[in-house]
Amino acid sequence: MTFTRNPTGREQDLIDLFKATFTASEGAEEGALIAELVRKQLTETPADAIHVFTLEEEGSLLGACVFTRLTYAEDDRTVFVLGPVAVMPERQGQGIGQALLHQGLRVLRDAGVDVAMTYGDPNYYQKVGFQSVSEDEAPAPFKLQFPHGWLGQSLTDRPWSALKGPSSCVSALNDPVFW
Ligand SMILES: CC(C)(COP(=O)(O)OP(=O)(O)OC[C@H]1O[C@@H](n2cnc3c(N)ncnc32)[C@H](O)[C@@H]1OP(=O)(O)O)[C@@H](O)C(=O)NCCC(=O)NCCS
Repeated sequence: MTFTRNPTGREQDLIDLFKATFTASEGAEEGALIAELVRKQLTETPADAIHVFTLEEEGSLLGACVFTRLTYAEDDRTVFVLGPVAVMPERQGQGIGQALLHQGLRVLRDAGVDVAMTYGDPNYYQKVGFQSVSEDEAPAPFKLQFPHGWLGQSLTDRPWSALKGPSSCVSALNDPVFW
């Protein structure tokens, strides 16, 4: 398996992977929504506000994840939020997702990112170091529909501490449907 940071010329492959994965797990409507989110993330986000990581085998994408910048108005730490992440349906449950996220988080740490956030199933994301945080500790850009899915981790030697908001996200995520 080959790990790649910010692959070039793979935009359509990435969109297709997310569309197929989310259509299989949550239906065609969600597949289309996430595919459009990824298209916007890849085309609208300034280069310094996005990190894309992939694992591939023999030229085919097995998994991919996207991190985009979250800006906290009263906090000078560098924060990125993970989402979405996908592993192709035929290869799920084989450790690919965790391998991808571990490697991606290591790259972010080496790049000087202070904090990673995500919004999803705590049972899954705790496997790669995320822990539940409250909206008081880390304000989200929108009121969360599922506050128990708001998760964070420090990527530095400093332990987790509250992030001072308000926060803002990149344009692709600037829609309450994602929160
Ligand atoms: C979620 C996803 C990325 C995980 O990747 P994966 O390669 O299948 O996961 P891994 O093999 O690394 O990890 C498997 C472990 O996570 C658990 N797991 C997998 N998907 C899970 C989910 N959606 N919720 C909770 N736990 C999950 C498995 O039970 C397994 O646990 P174990 O190690 O204790 O046996 C992948 O299943 C996927 O693409 N799902 C559809 C899209 C999605 O839901 N994305 C996440 C929201 S953005």
